Amino acid sequence: MLLHIPAILDADQVRSMRAALQAAPWADGRETVGAQGARVKRNLQLSEASPLRQELGAQVLAALARNPLYHAAVLPLRTLLPRFNRYEGGGHYGFHVDGAVMALPGGGQLRSDVSCTLFLCDPEDYEGGELVISDTYGEHEVKLPAGDLIIYPSSSLHQVQPVTRGERLAAFFWVQSLVRDERRRRLLLELDRSIQTLTHTGADPAAVLQLTGVYHNLLRDWSET
Ligand code: NI
Repeated sequence: MLLHIPAILDADQVRSMRAALQAAPWADGRETVGAQGARVKRNLQLSEASPLRQELGAQVLAALARNPLYHAAVLPLRTLLPRFNRYEGGGHYGFHVDGAVMALPGGGQLRSDVSCTLFLCDPEDYEGGELVISDTYGEHEVKLPAGDLIIYPSSSLHQVQPVTRGERLAAFFWVQSLVRDERRRRLLLELDRSIQTLTHTGADPAAVLQLTGVYHNLLRDWSET
């Protein structure tokens, strides 16, 4: 499931994040990938231990926590602290698949179920830089307004096209979902959206309550912690 979640950050948050990132020291993005990724990755990243990454990453997590659509779609169990990247001067990241299991800073591991990219520059500010996600329906090009998020399956092949003008700043991170199976997550999201609509359009409260029970009991059956 590819899902566009608009306005995770507002214009002020985007502006101040971008200003902080533009003044930051950047490192080679190949620091954080294995041999497969290193062959095709040409970009810059904030270093893993950078205090700015900690600070801005925490801001992104706080913004996600306030977003009901994000929660309904991802059902997050564990989230890796967001990283930040920068593409410019032809920078790109060829087709790759994200690592399946990642170490968490405090110990423990995260299975990557959902990959997330939060755009921090507006599409007209740079040329190229589309995130291309390949699935059974073909290739999807994604280039969103600053502050918007795309979520996509970590199992998919994807790439970032070369940025040939301007610069592309983004945050990216991975989530282990309570519900591993993508089709089940999509069913739960559709059910959640239907319940919201029925509630707001004044449907029979007893029927809505019953449907809400179905939602929670499916989530209980399908979730793993
Ligand atoms: Ni990736």
